[in-house]
Amino acid sequence: MRFLITSALPYANGPKHIGHLAGAYLPADIFTRYAKAQGHDVAFVCGSDEHGAAITIQALKENTTPREIVDKYHELLKKCFIEFNIDFDIYHRTSDPIHHATAQEFFTNLNDKGIFQIDESEQYFDEEAKVFLADRYIKGTCPNCSYDSAYGDQCERCGKSLSPQELIEPRSTLSGKKPALKATKHWSLPLNKYEDFLQEWIVKDKKDKWRNTVYGQCKSWIDGGLQPRAVTRDLDWGVKVPLKEAEGKVLYVWFDAPIGYISATKAWAEQNNKNWKDYWCNKDTKLVHFIGKDNIVFHCIIFPVMLYAHGEFILPDNVPANEFLNLEGDKMSTSRGWSIEMHEFLEAFPEKTDELRYYLTAIAPETKDSDFTWKGFQTANKSELVDILGNFVNRIVMLTHKFYGGMVPVPALKMEAEILLDAEMRGQVEKVHKLLSQYKFREAQFELMNLARAGNKYLADAEPWKLIKTDEERTKTIMFAGLQVAAGLAKLMRYFLPKKAELLAKILNIDAGFILEPHHKINEAEYLFKPIEDELIDAQIQKLKQRVEEKKEALVREIETVEKPIKAEITIDDFNKIDLRVGTILEAKKVEKADKLLQLTIHLGSETRTILSGIAQHYSPEEVVGLQVTIVANLAPRKMRGIESYGMILMAEDANGKLVFVSPKDEVSNGSETR
Ligand code: 2FM
Ligand code: ZN
Repeated sequence: MRFLITSALPYANGPKHIGHLAGAYLPADIFTRYAKAQGHDVAFVCGSDEHGAAITIQALKENTTPREIVDKYHELLKKCFIEFNIDFDIYHRTSDPIHHATAQEFFTNLNDKGIFQIDESEQYFDEEAKVFLADRYIKGTCPNCSYDSAYGDQCERCGKSLSPQELIEPRSTLSGKKPALKATKHWSLPLNKYEDFLQEWIVKDKKDKWRNTVYGQCKSWIDGGLQPRAVTRDLDWGVKVPLKEAEGKVLYVWFDAPIGYISATKAWAEQNNKNWKDYWCNKDTKLVHFIGKDNIVFHCIIFPVMLYAHGEFILPDNVPANEFLNLEGDKMSTSRGWSIEMHEFLEAFPEKTDELRYYLTAIAPETKDSDFTWKGFQTANKSELVDILGNFVNRIVMLTHKFYGGMVPVPALKMEAEILLDAEMRGQVEKVHKLLSQYKFREAQFELMNLARAGNKYLADAEPWKLIKTDEERTKTIMFAGLQVAAGLAKLMRYFLPKKAELLAKILNIDAGFILEPHHKINEAEYLFKPIEDELIDAQIQKLKQRVEEKKEALVREIETVEKPIKAEITIDDFNKIDLRVGTILEAKKVEKADKLLQLTIHLGSETRTILSGIAQHYSPEEVVGLQVTIVANLAPRKMRGIESYGMILMAEDANGKLVFVSPKDEVSNGSETR
């Protein structure tokens, strides 16, 4: 069988954390190692995603050029993957000329076929910076979960993919100002025209083949109806749109990035005398994308539509996307400082990469979000790797040296040895392989550990250290079988723990085959794993907490403050006189001849009332309908422009005069009191 395995191309805009490792790189590496060991023809490709606003924003932050940013982080990421033994056949980059040519050809192919629709649309433009704003340059409140820093393309809190116009209270990240809509022309992929294809290919066919979480997300998107998606952007960093009339435009990063899998395969094929088309255009090849859940829509819907519309490519056979890995009970976030970056782990524990691989697979977020804790890492290392796997291997190797001078004994009772091996090892190896073929890495590794558990139990029950005094022949049989279990472990460990598998192979003096023939000489025992000291773990927990504090302080320094004296003190009774309530804006309209006023109809639970608010220069009526706001409900009515206003809406005003609603963070029932 032939496999083309891909891992999500990480943005070369900064370091990546161990959640990324657990989500898209480690499982892909395990699967590739397994598939290669089965003799399949496999290409495992990845590379840096070097375009898009993620890069240009970082360049602004670091006061440098996008080119310098991608060069710096491409090297860092590549090095980290090597150290963690993520064994890509190629780690390419999307700024490479092969990629630019491949992405442009792809675009031209679809364009010549008349697939794109060209839309004149209005897009957010920053009047101050004089540029159209890429989705990532716009932040605002998520219409789905109310997170107030959602990006124009996706909410990082709830994962919903968005368009900038959907954001409530959008603001430019360049100037902080509210952007204006301005006309521009873009090429769009009409996803809506591919709904039938997606119904057939995913909804009808993938229910029992793909992970429930992946299938569920896809189904709800497809059933919910798809919209055309622009594949070009007004930006000067990226793959130029290969059309005269598209001067100043580049391909949208999400259009070019997955084509990066194709260009990486081309580059690898060129260097290795292979034909890239065998991997991309042959129906016998299985294409498997390893990603995190935030990338599902792109890999299961948009990229497949692109491939299908092109017509010469295969479609993904599976997309075993992972949920998220949290850290000590909270969402991992590099910007908040609540993360363990890959390079940081490598600096702190250069010798413990397999131990981390082990723990990340043991807690892999395959079906739901999971939690990394430093104590959990320490415990998994001690009670599983040291006490079970390491202990078994050490015992059997030591005893072999003690009893037989390091020579594999001849099993006197061959039948018994065979029975033992069938029960303990062969079945277990098969189980692990089957689980891996189903992308169940967590369970597969658990079964590997069960083999070590069985080995330990086997020795504990048979007690060869006692038996040798009374029955030498039977002891040989037991030791022979035990040694085969150790060899079986070395074989399975290659997928999960490549460095330790190598060490075990060295101890057992085997490179291929993994059967220890009688008379085979093994090497001296060495510890496979060692406990991790409490101090090292505590230091990491401390470091994490300290960094979050530092980031918070930096944030406070960054935010402009309003210097207005605090008003005279009041008592709690004074405060209690004010009746603050939550309500939803049902209707909004401009008030004639009053530039500043909006007339709002607000639902307060038990009643609906009219309130006039001086926010018309900050918000359009359409923007505010549906928002939950806080109002002063017992303010004496006041007449303005002939309209009676029954209350006041609470707004926060910053140093620049920007007005923002003071709203409950999560939805509550209308009429709720605020204290
Ligand atoms: O989300 C991300 O980090 C993207 N850079 C993933 C791209 S995957 C693929 F399409 F290349
Ligand atoms: Zn959200």
